[in-house]
Amino acid sequence: MILPIRAYGDTVLRKVCTPIDADYPELQELIANMYETMDESNGVGLAAPQIGRDIRLFVIDSSHMYDEEGMGQRRVFINAEMIEEYDDEWVFEEGCLSIPHIRENVSRNGTIRMRFQDENFEEKEEEFDGMTARVIQHEYDHIEGVLFIDHISSLKRRLIKGKLTDISKGNISVDYRMKFPKR
Ligand code: NI
Repeated sequence: MILPIRAYGDTVLRKVCTPIDADYPELQELIANMYETMDESNGVGLAAPQIGRDIRLFVIDSSHMYDEEGMGQRRVFINAEMIEEYDDEWVFEEGCLSIPHIRENVSRNGTIRMRFQDENFEEKEEEFDGMTARVIQHEYDHIEGVLFIDHISSLKRRLIKGKLTDISKGNISVDYRMKFPKR
């Protein structure tokens, strides 16, 4: 089932999300719906607050970010905790399904170490780099209530203020299902 994506301005996008356990109701169905919603909107990642739930859950598919086959990862991250971000910072133009039509350069460390659980609540601790790390960093921000535009300069934020207001009011056209806070 495709879920409506919450737009910029929705308070759920600013929540520090809470951990879940294996008893969370209909979790496997929720994960399947999040994958479907991400794929339908051509996203490379989707975090639970973006579909209105303030829980520590996100899915990614970084395979679209690589030319080479087999390079990306399609994964679910439950209760993720960032242990370390290191290696040189690099800049990449990011976007977000909750903030359509806005792309900005964001600088982030090249490598991360993350502790999380998979869809079967198996404990994992893994290192990620390249575009996969970039996507995880962006989605991890979401479960901490942080958006990519928080990383840009205040001058650049002022320049997109009008566009952000339009998004929160639903005064935009977008080819996937969205829910606007102020419409
Ligand atoms: Ni996003």
